[in-house]
Amino acid sequence: MVTRHSVLRVTRSHRDKYVRHLLGTSKLSDEQASRDYGANRIQTLEGPAGSGRLVVLPQSACAARQRPADAADPLPMTTTPKLGFGTAPILGRIGRRDSVAALERAYALGVRHFDTARSYGWGEAEGVLGSFLQGKSRRECTIVSKCGIVPVKRSRVLSVAKALAREVRDRAPGVGSMVQRAASSSRFQPTRTYDVRTLNESFETSLRELRTDYLDVLLLHNFDPTMPGLDDVVTWFQRLRQRGSIARYGFAVGCDLVQGLTCLRGSGVLDGAVVQVPVSVALLALSSEWRDVPVLAHSAFRFSAQSGMSFTEILARLGAACRCEAAVCSMFSKSHIESNVATAARVAV
Ligand SMILES: NC(=O)c1ccc[n+]([C@@H]2O[C@H](COP(=O)([O-])OP(=O)(O)OC[C@H]3O[C@@H](n4cnc5c(N)ncnc54)[C@H](OP(=O)(O)O)[C@@H]3O)[C@@H](O)[C@H]2O)c1
Repeated sequence: MVTRHSVLRVTRSHRDKYVRHLLGTSKLSDEQASRDYGANRIQTLEGPAGSGRLVVLPQSACAARQRPADAADPLPMTTTPKLGFGTAPILGRIGRRDSVAALERAYALGVRHFDTARSYGWGEAEGVLGSFLQGKSRRECTIVSKCGIVPVKRSRVLSVAKALAREVRDRAPGVGSMVQRAASSSRFQPTRTYDVRTLNESFETSLRELRTDYLDVLLLHNFDPTMPGLDDVVTWFQRLRQRGSIARYGFAVGCDLVQGLTCLRGSGVLDGAVVQVPVSVALLALSSEWRDVPVLAHSAFRFSAQSGMSFTEILARLGAACRCEAAVCSMFSKSHIESNVATAARVAV
C-alpha cells in the first residue's frame, strides 16, 4: 500500500524494486520503471485509487544537485540510530561462554545499548547481561527490557535440554530444525500476560537479574490492539517512572505497525512512549504524523535477507524515516559485531 505522501530516499539500485513493491504491482517492467521513474529528479507516482502519493527521491550526489531548492518535502536524516546489542539468543541459540564473549567484544567496540526481555533465554538472558554489566558504568549504558511474556519456570531439566540441544545442533547441523521443533514444544512455551501484578513481579525480577535499580526503557512485550487493560498497564508504567525505577516506557508492537500506533494514539498513551518494532517496508515509509515517536528498530538482518537492502542503507533510511534511536541486532559472531559497529559508525558520520 502507498501511504499518503510517503517520501522515500532510495538508491538507484533499489528504486525500481521499491516502486513495484509499494505500488503493489509487478506489471511495471524494468524498462518502463527505468524510463518513467529512473531520471535523477523528483518523481511523483499516483498509487492505486485513493491511496495517496509516493515521491521517490534518488539519492546520488548528482540527483541532489539537480533537485530544485523547493523540492517537496525532502527528508534529512533526522536521527542517527545507535547500534544496539540484542540478547534474544543468549542461553537459547548461544551458550553462556559465547554470549559473554560477544558482549565483551561489542562493549570493547563501544556498543552501549542492550536490549533484553524477561522471557529471553527461557528467563536466563537478563542474568547473563546483568552479570556482564556488573562493574561497568551503569550511566553509560542503556538497558531496555520487556515484560508481558512469562518464561517457563527455570529447572535443571530445561537447562540440560538447552545445553544438549546446542551440542546436537553444533555436532550435526542437519538436525537444526528438529532441535527447533523440540524447543517450541508446548512444555517450554512462555505465556503472555497483561496482569499488572504479574508484570510487576516480572519487572522486579528483571531489576534483580540485571543487577540494577532502574531501567532506561521498560517495554510491554507483544502489544496488540486486542490486549485488555491497557490503561492499567500505563498507570503502572507511570508509577514506576515517577519513583525513578524506569526512565521511559513503551510498547514492543507485535501487530501491523500503523494499526498499533493508531491504537496507542487513540488510547492517549503514545505521548512520551517508545515503540519497538521490526524493520519493515511500513517502518521505512512511515508517514510524517508518526515522525516524533521514538523508535527502537529490531531485526534489520531479517529484513535485509527479505529485501536485499544492505545494513548501511537500512540504518540511513531508518534515520530519515522515523526518530529511530537504536537498531537492535543479534550479533554473536566476531565478524558480524565488527562489521556492524563499523557500519553504524560510517552511517553516523
Ligand atoms: N520486541 C520484540 O518483540 C523483538 C522481536 C525480535 C527481536 N527483538 C530484539 O531484536 C534483536 C535482533 O533480532 P533478530 O535476532 O530477530 O534479528 P536480526 O538482528 O535481524 O538477525 C540476527 C541474525 O543476523 C546475523 N547477523 C548479524 N550481523 C550480521 C551481518 N553484519 N551480516 C550478516 N548477518 C548478520 C546474526 O548472526 P550471529 O548472531 O551469528 O552473528 C543473526 O543470525 C533480538 O536479539 C532482540 O533483542 C525484539
